Amino acid sequence: MAYLSPLGYLLGVEGVALLRGLREGSADRAFVEARIAEIRTLLDTPALAHAEGITAEPGTISTAEVYEDWAPHYDAPGNGMIDIEQPVVRRILDGLPVGTALDAACGTGRHTAHLHGLGHKVIGVDASPDMLDRARERLPDVDFREADLHRLPLPDDAVDTVVCALALTHVPELAPVLREFARVLRPGGHLVISDAHLLSSYLRPTLPRRPGPDGRPSLLDEYHRPLSAYLTAALPLGFQVRSCEEPRRPRGFLAPAAPDPLPTHPSWDLHHWCPEASAAALEDSPLVVVWHFRLDTTRAT
Ligand SMILES: C[S@@+](CC[C@H](N)C(=O)[O-])C[C@H]1O[C@@H](n2cnc3c(N)ncnc32)[C@H](O)[C@@H]1O
Repeated sequence: MAYLSPLGYLLGVEGVALLRGLREGSADRAFVEARIAEIRTLLDTPALAHAEGITAEPGTISTAEVYEDWAPHYDAPGNGMIDIEQPVVRRILDGLPVGTALDAACGTGRHTAHLHGLGHKVIGVDASPDMLDRARERLPDVDFREADLHRLPLPDDAVDTVVCALALTHVPELAPVLREFARVLRPGGHLVISDAHLLSSYLRPTLPRRPGPDGRPSLLDEYHRPLSAYLTAALPLGFQVRSCEEPRRPRGFLAPAAPDPLPTHPSWDLHHWCPEASAAALEDSPLVVVWHFRLDTTRAT
């Protein structure tokens, strides 16, 4: 059972700001003393000091349930992760040969639309019927299929490109999913993956979701991994690295604060309590990782 405390989160942000500032040499005496004074203020602020945290059970809500809630809001402006990920992924996709493409875990069809616009024949696959409804509204002529990443509804050697964006954080193990990508890709095909960066997982509040079966708020299981985990899964399958990028949160991205779009829990947009510490902890830190792999022309699977 996880206990999510707003005060605990903010003290963590202050701690990261101090540690990062010391490590990077940017924390002068005034900065350190300001952090210590702000920690005292946070501890003495009744709204925080007496705020009851939330006890939530990890793994008691499914990915499909989370995206059922999120689907109506997913494409609204203000998703900082998309703002940072999209230009990097699009730059890679723009340089690939046009052919047949799979958008694996396509969601509402964000990258599907871009691939379609580039002239690819695109197939979108996702496990969430609610996200797929939005994708079909957006792109009525595209072939969208409801399926799991572990069992793609495609024959071997079916596509030239696979893109899988911001979804692998939901799968417990990379290897079985990457094996599916290798199976459906033609030898020499391209795989573009974006995912939440391990470092970003420490620096955003964990969001409790709608109540689970016992009435308690639930937490979605998420899997954040070091960069080596992608290589460990991909290289034995015959994938070769073309590029690996770690786009960072830009300076100033914290303002204006984006309220959490999900309606089912109190907002955990807490950074306004300590803007200087939040900026020092979060700005210019990697938010996503974007991989471009190419499958060997002689495949290992
Ligand atoms: C954050 S959204 C990303 C959607 C889209 N790729 C984008 O970047 O806009 C994650 C998507 O992954 C899908 N997803 C998560 N686990 C999945 C699985 N095992 N099989 C298929 N889809 C999955 C979810 O339903 C959701 O639509």
